[in-house]
Amino acid sequence: MEIVNTVEKLIDIAVRERAAGKTIGMVPTMGALHEGHISLIRRAHEENDVVFCSIFVNPVQFNNAEDLAKYPRTLEADVQLIGDLADYVFAPTVEEVFPVAPTEVYDFGTVANVMEGAARPGHFNGVGVIVRRLLEWVRPHKAYFGEKDYQQIAVIREMCTQCRIFAEIVPCPIVREPNGLAMSSRNRRLSVHEFETSANIHRILEESKQFDNVQEIKRFVETEIAKIPEFQLDYFELADAQTLLTADTLDNPHGVMGFITVYVGPVRLIDNVKYR
Ligand code: PAF
Repeated sequence: MEIVNTVEKLIDIAVRERAAGKTIGMVPTMGALHEGHISLIRRAHEENDVVFCSIFVNPVQFNNAEDLAKYPRTLEADVQLIGDLADYVFAPTVEEVFPVAPTEVYDFGTVANVMEGAARPGHFNGVGVIVRRLLEWVRPHKAYFGEKDYQQIAVIREMCTQCRIFAEIVPCPIVREPNGLAMSSRNRRLSVHEFETSANIHRILEESKQFDNVQEIKRFVETEIAKIPEFQLDYFELADAQTLLTADTLDNPHGVMGFITVYVGPVRLIDNVKYR
């Protein structure tokens, strides 16, 4: 595996690999890698001739300065973890990616305005800014993203449609800790007790599948989350799995998903569940 620090070199390598007829898979990350990321990289490795993984803590997608400052940066350990699953790790500085502050303003429509979009203004614009650059520089055949950030995948698909980017966007299943908590780089900020308690998020979502209407599911999840003193519910929404518009019924041709965001102390955790 080769570490690449400049955009110019990244493009050179990607052009050369494409010209040699290789299929290219890409896994964009912000580092602090865990088994969830590795599952994406492994899949990219299985499905492509060449794999690029990027490790870049993208400042423009953080709408909270403290969150950005506290985001774990563990490049050496990340590179060890990736091993030979990727051929190239792109690990640039902020100045390399953004020689001047980016000014792009996108309108990704509903999928970017609800839930995480409403709770974190500017977040999805920042995701669009960086993912567009990465996909245009590498021009992968396939790009892999985890379904924990289900809404992010919808936004990235919309960005690709709007910007005429033809990479296939490959959604990959959530990887969970043995206790059920969705893997996230943020989990490192939880105390041992908070980590154990946070397993209740997944448990409650799973148990909510016993109900067969939206109102009962909402009432159950909100009540159960409120019983746990360490939890502060940010939102729990049931939404159409494709449009992400609020679902009033489970009878929906696209399927219905539940999306939850919970603060455990200062750490904001997200998860989701498929009902139909
Ligand atoms: O999901 C993430 O880690 C980030 O949002 C991404 C897609 C790497 C863009 O910075």
